[in-house]
Amino acid sequence: EDLRKTYRSRRQQTVAADGVSFEGDAGMVLGILGPNGSGKTTTIKSILGLIRRDSGSVLLDGYDPERHPREVLARSGAVLEGARNIYWRLTVAENMRYYAGIRGLSGRAVSARIDELLDALGLQERRTSRVGTLSRGYQQRCAIGCALVHDPRVVFLDEPTLGLDVESRAATREAVRRWAADGRLVVVTSHDMAFVERSCDRALVIRNGRIIADGSVGALRDSLVTHTLALTFPSGFEPVSLSALTARGAHRDHDGQGETILVPLDHPGQAYEIFGELRGDRDALVNMAVRDNDFETAFMRLLKDHGADREAR
Ligand SMILES: Nc1ncnc2c1ncn2[C@@H]1O[C@H](COP(=O)(O)OP(=O)(O)OP(=O)(O)O)[C@@H](O)[C@H]1O
Ligand SMILES: [Mg+2]
Repeated sequence: EDLRKTYRSRRQQTVAADGVSFEGDAGMVLGILGPNGSGKTTTIKSILGLIRRDSGSVLLDGYDPERHPREVLARSGAVLEGARNIYWRLTVAENMRYYAGIRGLSGRAVSARIDELLDALGLQERRTSRVGTLSRGYQQRCAIGCALVHDPRVVFLDEPTLGLDVESRAATREAVRRWAADGRLVVVTSHDMAFVERSCDRALVIRNGRIIADGSVGALRDSLVTHTLALTFPSGFEPVSLSALTARGAHRDHDGQGETILVPLDHPGQAYEIFGELRGDRDALVNMAVRDNDFETAFMRLLKDHGADREAR
């Protein structure tokens, strides 16, 4: 609630979290999206108590990380960006056992838990491999396994799919969905829109340390996704209606098939109106299609529009 954090050095101040407020419930995958440097990692570190917030309140499963660090540690698991705190000389299973150990867990329940995680993360065949000999993707999976070995209520994954291949991304996505379905809260940051679209229930969009959108992924997409009319003419063709289309915000796109003019639409039905304005150019059309802009395009537009708003103020 109203989380604020400014990094200060002798030379400069960086406002990394500028009044961030949100809530997440058990059973959900919550995505935090935003450009580089927008404050995602800072927000997560503040929630975990790894850095001291300047102001605002934080509760993780009812506990303030600065007043009750042990409780927060026991209830949370996290893999932060780039930091894979796993031991190169130990095997995958040994790493997980070690992380269970430092949380005071041992015995048969832990073995069963490790086995379950090795399955979920597709690591069974690598369980006795030394982590130092594994590829980046498997190291990442092992780091996730270590963060989850104590069965935390809240899981934070900062950029979990970075550098992962298609199969590992799918495995991560499925695992994330399953953990949430089991009643945990999973918080993920990602620049991978396809991953967010498929794995998250809700998404927050953060920019310059402020949340600029918060809603279900479906609602976010519906509110942002727009349509484009793509008109393709033969290469070199100069449409008579070009200036009328340009006035509607159209731009050209040269692709292999010819000259495509992309006209933004307020709604798909507007395509008929524009078609009417084409007049003689209609006979030269090679192709015409209404395209849905994808989530990624919509997201980019949101960031751009919001930037323009701020500058206008
Ligand atoms: N330890 C630090 N000292 C000083 N400034 C920092 C520190 N950590 C982060 N910052 C600054 O705070 C801002 C937010 O950084 P943060 O790492 O939270 O962004 P992010 O959204 O996680 O970005 P990315 O997508 O690149 O991971 C940035 O301007 C960054 O340069
Ligand atoms: Mg980050």
